[in-house]
Amino acid sequence: MDRTAVVIAVVNNKGGVGKTTTSINLGAALATPRRRVLLMDLDSQASASLWCGVERGRLKPSAASCLLHGYPVHAAVRPTSVPHLDASSVE
Ligand SMILES: Nc1ncnc2c1ncn2[C@@H]1O[C@H](COP(=O)(O)OP(=O)(O)OP(=O)(O)O)[C@@H](O)[C@H]1O
Ligand SMILES: [Mg+2]
Repeated sequence: MDRTAVVIAVVNNKGGVGKTTTSINLGAALATPRRRVLLMDLDSQASASLWCGVERGRLKPSAASCLLHGYPVHAAVRPTSVPHLDASSVE
């Protein structure tokens, strides 16, 4: 089995064009037992994480904690309500 990670970035400078909606649905559609997905939610509004069932009080430690405060990467990963889809916020 090929274990190489594939990174898909959903980026647009304009607001309200469907970035969050696309990211959540793409992640959920791709997630299977043999293809785990980590949704990196790099919007400080944390909409994608919240939509996936991560409670606001559980957003930290976040990716920001890892980048700025030396937390290990796994500390920022949360399970979501979607099987095989984890999320990491940047709050
Ligand atoms: N394919 C689509 N068809 C119709 N409506 C859509 C579609 N994708 C997203 N929307 C709607 O458009 C609105 C904006 O979507 P979304 O929040 O995903 O955008 P965004 O780019 O993440 O916004 P922001 O810049 O505020 O983070 C939402 O109301 C969403 O339900
Ligand atoms: Mg958004």
